[in-house]
Amino acid sequence: MNKTLQGKVALVTGGASGIGQALATELASRGCDVVLADRQVELATAIAKDIEAKGGGRAWAEALDVREFSQFERVANATLDRSGGIDFLFNNAGIAVGGEMDGYGLADWDDVIDVNLRGVAYGVQAVYPSMVKRRTGHIINTASVAGLVPAAGTGSYCATKHAVVGLTKALRVEARVHGVRASVMCPGAIKTPILTGGTFGRFNYRNITARDVLAMWDEARPMAPELFARKALDAVLRDEAYIIVPGWWKAFWYLDRVSPSLSLRVWGSRLEKMRAQLARLGATAARPGDAAREEHGDVDEPPASGESVRPGAPLAT
Ligand SMILES: NC(=O)c1ccc[n+]([C@@H]2O[C@H](COP(=O)([O-])OP(=O)(O)OC[C@H]3O[C@@H](n4cnc5c(N)ncnc54)[C@H](O)[C@@H]3O)[C@@H](O)[C@H]2O)c1
Repeated sequence: MNKTLQGKVALVTGGASGIGQALATELASRGCDVVLADRQVELATAIAKDIEAKGGGRAWAEALDVREFSQFERVANATLDRSGGIDFLFNNAGIAVGGEMDGYGLADWDDVIDVNLRGVAYGVQAVYPSMVKRRTGHIINTASVAGLVPAAGTGSYCATKHAVVGLTKALRVEARVHGVRASVMCPGAIKTPILTGGTFGRFNYRNITARDVLAMWDEARPMAPELFARKALDAVLRDEAYIIVPGWWKAFWYLDRVSPSLSLRVWGSRLEKMRAQLARLGATAARPGDAAREEHGDVDEPPASGESVRPGAPLAT
């Protein structure tokens, strides 16, 4: 076992799937004790058992809905009571709603803002004071490349991820004096369930299968979450402010800063391409009130069948 992080404690939200699961597993393989906090607590419990069986750091699962501050406080306090401190907070839980804003209902804003922005703010609020008190700790907020560029086709996701980038930049500057670190993680495309909607997200189109959506993602060359976690954690330990993995996605970030107008044009062409792909597939936007939208329900109700009911947002990176 790599023992670099032995004696450290990490709280990972959204630890029951995808990037969160991979981060928790990688942390534990380096000796760190991990808490997997997720709405899907049964999955988190199974993963925690798996992690412990591999013989790295210890692992616990906690039920957590990041939209509820009282739940965050409970999980943070339980972890502090048990371990004496939280060295790393990974504010990673997130959802995506795919589709253009002319087809949004209010829930398409609220659901995403509540998890992706309010959830991150609540995490900071619940854990940061204990880090300030101990004069140590590192908060890693997961935004996205969509938090750095005009990722059209998924406006509420893009907006919340920009907000998480801003929140983290301000936190990084403020926290320094307290001996606390903050970094923002901006994944490109990573091969996880969110690409086809995840358990609590949705894609506001009809007549499209998960396989079609994954095929649309192919050109973005999604990275395996395990490799992402290894590279991202190395960057965390180097205390990088912006963690953009896979590295080639940095090109979009640089372009947006060097020439915002060219960046708008590039993302405009990507949107045109996506519209054309969807049209070729015969997919049509599902508007609020459409049967397809009602059938998909909102993010509080996971899909009942394994069918592709919630393909994810092709530009939600
Ligand atoms: N996969 C990608 O390509 C990609 C790209 C950029 C950013 N991200 C971001 O990475 C993070 C992790 O996403 P992922 O790709 O692993 O997706 P995922 O769908 O595999 O995992 C998301 C996890 O968050 C949990 N979750 C959702 N709502 C929650 C809530 N209210 N409270 C607690 N847990 C909740 C889910 O149960 C799930 O376990 C997200 O913030 C996402 O926006 C992912």
